Amino acid sequence: MNRAGRQPRERKQEASRSLRFGPRLFIAQTQPGFEFAAWSEIKARVPAAREQARRQVGDRAGLSIFTASTPHQLRSLRCTEDVLLLAGYRYGLSSESAGLDQIRSASREAPFVEEALNARVVFQPAARAGRRLRFRVVARQVGDHEFRRVDLQRVVQLGIAERRDHTWRLDEDAADVEFWATQIGDELLLGIRLSDERMRHRDYKIAHRPGSLRPAVAAAVAWLSDPRDDDIVLDPFCGVGTVLIERAHLGRYRNLIGSDRDPGAIRAARENFGPRFKPVELHDDWDAGALPLGDASVTKIAANLPWGIKHGSHVLNRRRYGDWLAEMNRVLAPEGKMVLLTAEWRLMRDLIERGALAVEKMSRVTVLGAPASLYLCKKAVTPLITRR
Ligand SMILES: C[S@@+](CC[C@H](N)C(=O)[O-])C[C@H]1O[C@@H](n2cnc3c(N)ncnc32)[C@H](O)[C@@H]1O
Repeated sequence: MNRAGRQPRERKQEASRSLRFGPRLFIAQTQPGFEFAAWSEIKARVPAAREQARRQVGDRAGLSIFTASTPHQLRSLRCTEDVLLLAGYRYGLSSESAGLDQIRSASREAPFVEEALNARVVFQPAARAGRRLRFRVVARQVGDHEFRRVDLQRVVQLGIAERRDHTWRLDEDAADVEFWATQIGDELLLGIRLSDERMRHRDYKIAHRPGSLRPAVAAAVAWLSDPRDDDIVLDPFCGVGTVLIERAHLGRYRNLIGSDRDPGAIRAARENFGPRFKPVELHDDWDAGALPLGDASVTKIAANLPWGIKHGSHVLNRRRYGDWLAEMNRVLAPEGKMVLLTAEWRLMRDLIERGALAVEKMSRVTVLGAPASLYLCKKAVTPLITRR
């Protein structure tokens, strides 16, 4: 049983091949399981980018590791929460205390620190450069080791302080540069963070509600619906509007339709939309089980369904999910696409087995530590379940 106590799921750390370490190797960081979505956006938007590997840092992060000729286009990615440049790398580390010496020397000798400092200015034009730099180290560790995460952090701090390229001073509270040291099994990734918190938090999000999605996760849900100029996009559980606003940022569309049976959520969505992103319709009195929309009237559905944790309950979900899926399937156009995120994986499995959805791809993901599943679906032509 895992932390949420619900989804028996072992995420084995796959034995990973070593990276071809070199210059211009970037890391796009997302919530775990979303790295394929982050890479899909990078591949489409960053000319000549090539993915080299993916990694997961337990239930904390998913990483897509790729080369790109410049960092410029990476600033506008929406499915990524942070961008790092890989400044140092070591493979084949000892899991015993000798590993600490290897990590210290890898940090001291990391060859692409200067490249990362230059790339950082693209993301943060006001970033401090110069000879004297204050730094801090974020350390993460996955796998069995004879030393702890704090030991890893300490030896990286020592290694950086020993570098000759700048005068490095450890300063937790007012660092100019953030090093992220990630140890996964016998591999050390030493990145420098290029982005700051503005990449994770979006300025449109002025009204919040419990259960409101992380913007990069909402962007991934919208991105995976394969945005097209003529899209009519529906989110029948739109909450404060995060998925639809992210969709609006990803490209043109014909119409956005958001609905939620909670008027408070729709009031918040109206605040977040403001006067932007036209055309959009927001409805505060629609029940997702009885949508006042014609058959096949929308081309895309992108939604974060109630998980039964912050909204409703599992008992209620058991009663209602069948109706909701049937109704979404009814209003979806024959060539349409539907992307759904939920933690109700058992319920979804039962409904899918009964033909409620035509799932093309299902991915296990984690959102802020909570396990969930992401479903990419097309319209089920002869759904076995119809709304009662
Ligand atoms: C998980 S939240 C969605 C959050 C949203 N993606 C956001 O970022 O704010 C689920 C939403 O479904 C709504 N909801 C629950 N049951 C509903 C129903 N029968 N019809 C329409 N909306 C419903 C809740 O009010 C809640 O806002």
